[in-house]
Amino acid sequence: MSTVISVKNLTYQYNIGTPSCSTALDNVSLDIEKGDFIGLIGHTGSGKSTLVQHLNGLIKPTSGSVYLNGKDIHSDKKATREARFKVGLCFQYPEYQLFEETVAKDIAFGPRNMKLSEKEITARVVKAAMYVGLKKEHMDKSPFDLSGGEKRRAAIAGVMAMEPEVLILDEPTAGLDPKGRDVILSLVKNYQKQTGCTVILVSHSMEDIAKVADKVIVMNKGKVEMYGDVKTVYSNCDRLSEIGLNVPQITRVFSLLKEKGIEINEDVYTVEQGLTVLSEILKRRGHND
Ligand SMILES: Nc1ncnc2c1ncn2[C@@H]1O[C@H](COP(=O)(O)OP(=O)(O)OP(=O)(O)O)[C@@H](O)[C@H]1O
Ligand SMILES: [Mg+2]
Repeated sequence: MSTVISVKNLTYQYNIGTPSCSTALDNVSLDIEKGDFIGLIGHTGSGKSTLVQHLNGLIKPTSGSVYLNGKDIHSDKKATREARFKVGLCFQYPEYQLFEETVAKDIAFGPRNMKLSEKEITARVVKAAMYVGLKKEHMDKSPFDLSGGEKRRAAIAGVMAMEPEVLILDEPTAGLDPKGRDVILSLVKNYQKQTGCTVILVSHSMEDIAKVADKVIVMNKGKVEMYGDVKTVYSNCDRLSEIGLNVPQITRVFSLLKEKGIEINEDVYTVEQGLTVLSEILKRRGHND
């Protein structure tokens, strides 16, 4: 595996030189490996959004550096521009940034900024719409006439259409109902499988992250508290709850069953996994349906 993004001793302070100066990131260092699907989790205000906005050069570090494929993204203008295009960031509540007259034009905004040919732009818009499941009839509508989930998908398509090397989604499921959340999670997972792109997904939900991510970064008060595969990170239940994160309810249910002596060999983080494990237990006990 090779490293695509490397963050070295990154510190960021908002409102430097004023009484409201606050340290949002405190000496953060981490490497993102190519092709990984990473969940980024942490309590409100832990620095998730500030961190991801550094990865595409939108915010400049107060101190420290961000490297993309080994090059400091602030070394010169060209490197910063490259980071903006190669690291695609979909903001928290992106629907507030849809502004073109049609959905198609909105999705085309990023590729157009990249100065691609009209033919290439159209091809990318069609492909991105397909990835997010927006149909032809959606494309000529005003983005304001879409449902909440569709708006979110249009915004994600806009970033996908830039064909970034790293796709970052800041809380893409926030405010959606459970069905809407699952639609977004599975489309992002499918996109990653098909393109092999590196994905960083910010979320408050440990269950959502368990559904899609291979690795997890846990932020706490501007620092990286944990970074590892889902199983290893999620096994630190006590520390996670100390920093305001709760392992999924379903995980608690299964650890209680285990304490009661039921033989459960694997950790359960999602309801779907729970159903599989439960049906195996029932089968072992002679129930076949
Ligand atoms: N524009 C800003 N001006 C001043 N302080 C800010 C600004 N944006 C964020 N902060 C502060 O920086 C810290 C980190 O905020 P950030 O938005 O990165 O956290 P987060 O983990 O994304 O939170 P959330 O889960 O609520 O989205 C917080 O203390 C926050 O109050
Ligand atoms: Mg945030």
